[in-house]
Amino acid sequence: MPGYKLAIDGPAGSGKSTISSLIAKKLGWTHIDTGAMYRAVTLLAIEKGINLNDEASYRFLESTYIHYDLDKIFIDNRDVTEAIRSESVTNNVSLVASMPYVRKQLVDLQQKAAKNGNIVMDGRDIGTVVLPHADLKIFLTANVEERAKRRYKENVKKGKEAQISKVIEDIVIRDQKDSTRKESPLKKASDAIELDTTYLTIEQVVNKIIELTDKKESNHGV
Ligand code: DC
Repeated sequence: MPGYKLAIDGPAGSGKSTISSLIAKKLGWTHIDTGAMYRAVTLLAIEKGINLNDEASYRFLESTYIHYDLDKIFIDNRDVTEAIRSESVTNNVSLVASMPYVRKQLVDLQQKAAKNGNIVMDGRDIGTVVLPHADLKIFLTANVEERAKRRYKENVKKGKEAQISKVIEDIVIRDQKDSTRKESPLKKASDAIELDTTYLTIEQVVNKIIELTDKKESNHGV
């Protein structure tokens, strides 16, 4: 069964993963956080001690099983959900995600995972590259201060040390790297609907997207 494909893209801290996960739970759909997959590759590359700039060193991916399920990410069945949020992973993930070989491996996995059933997939290139024929494409934005505030609160909740100015700096650097890289940069698809979430609550964004999903579904029936 092909199912409904909902693509959600946007910059760091725009709320993509939280919102996608809630939509999936409400609708009983499958959620795939593709950022978590790039983070898992980064974690493994750091653990293996490879030269992160050397594309050929990522061949280990051929014999690695990366898998996202129910808000958890696994490398060869090891749960790395917490480990992928470390500072070293966050600082290096943009570099790893800029490697064409890494992207090709992960995009293949993502397209296979989206083949059957109703899917909400979030990332940077879902509407442009991974699911160019998605039924609905959303591009989430929010101003940098608001995105940093959200990340800061998350960090504090997790007991991580955080400084708002450092969080802003990290987000600006990552936005810049993600949107200027050669390979599949962060970009709004021409047919995506842009939603600025700066002044919206998570629930408002979730409900708005579900409303748009309903509209698209009823259009299909016409
Ligand atoms: O969503 P996130 O912050 O967990 O994503 C981590 C990094 O992965 C982000 O800096 C860019 C990269 N990424 C990507 O290049 N393509 C995707 N589809 C998802 C994430």
